[in-house]
Amino acid sequence: TDLGIVAVGFSGGQCKAGVDAAPMALIESGLADQLKDDLEYNIHFDNKVHSYTELLPSSDPDHRGMKKPRAVSAVTQALSQQVYDHAKEGRCVLTLGGDHSIAIGTISGTAKAIRERLGRDMAVIWVDAHADINTPETSDSGNIHGMPVAFLTGLASDKPDAPFGWLKDEHRVSVKKLVYIGLRDVDRGEKKILREHGIKAFSMHDIDRHGIGKVMDMALGWIGSDTPIHLSFDIDALDPRFAPSTGTAVRGGLTLREGDFIAECVHETGSLVALDLVEVNPSLEEAGAAETVRSGVSIVRCALGDTLL
Ligand code: ARG
Ligand code: MN
Ligand code: MN
Ligand code: MN
Repeated sequence: TDLGIVAVGFSGGQCKAGVDAAPMALIESGLADQLKDDLEYNIHFDNKVHSYTELLPSSDPDHRGMKKPRAVSAVTQALSQQVYDHAKEGRCVLTLGGDHSIAIGTISGTAKAIRERLGRDMAVIWVDAHADINTPETSDSGNIHGMPVAFLTGLASDKPDAPFGWLKDEHRVSVKKLVYIGLRDVDRGEKKILREHGIKAFSMHDIDRHGIGKVMDMALGWIGSDTPIHLSFDIDALDPRFAPSTGTAVRGGLTLREGDFIAECVHETGSLVALDLVEVNPSLEEAGAAETVRSGVSIVRCALGDTLL
């Protein structure tokens, strides 16, 4: 199978430096080689971490309360094209972030390619402690990594000549084809959005109640079989015991096995078209950085078909 890899060293969707070093740490730990040698992927990778420095504006004042709107816009627009170019060739696309704002680029790129190639609307499984569905107006932080889902579903949009005006219908996904797993820190405005749009969400409470096996049955049942799936995995979905090095850690999260199980179940559908791994920040909680990277590698391997037996 063909696999495109895009390494995105970008941290501008939030305020903490270091998340841009994650792709290099993941690759240095042998991820790409394992995918090639153990899982036998035919890898398409330019062997570089993109930082898009030539695209970053010299001046980037807040827009509708968003911090670094032009930088995030320029990077995600370029990334959208990179992911699209892989996906339109029929490759599964692995993107290594970077903060979660980069999903504006990855998901828009896959959504467009899958529409053109298969004439289908894809589904998104968003595994995260957070819903990342703030609009610029509901966000308290102004950090765009808390907003990607709002822009990708059209709940937030910009005028054509404003920073995120490049996002068109062809890039978007329906709120009906979005499923969350692992939520436990959702802002008040976000809860209202989830409720009003009937968005499917499995919180840590649901996982405690039903177990991860039943939750995955329900999540995949909601999406329906034979629907292309983009899996966007924020490492902070895992409990900080397994992924301490991340910018917005929240206690009470998934065990590593639960995270791996989610990824395994998505692989088993045979419908995975793209995978993001985001928010690993090796410069935070440095004593746990290697452990966090190892957890990230494990999630990616499971999603791409590593099996226990
Ligand atoms: N809800 C908070 C915000 O809007 C936190 C978002 C955290 N997002 C993330 N991708 N880690 O700022
Ligand atoms: Mn998160
Ligand atoms: Mn919060
Ligand atoms: Mn996130």
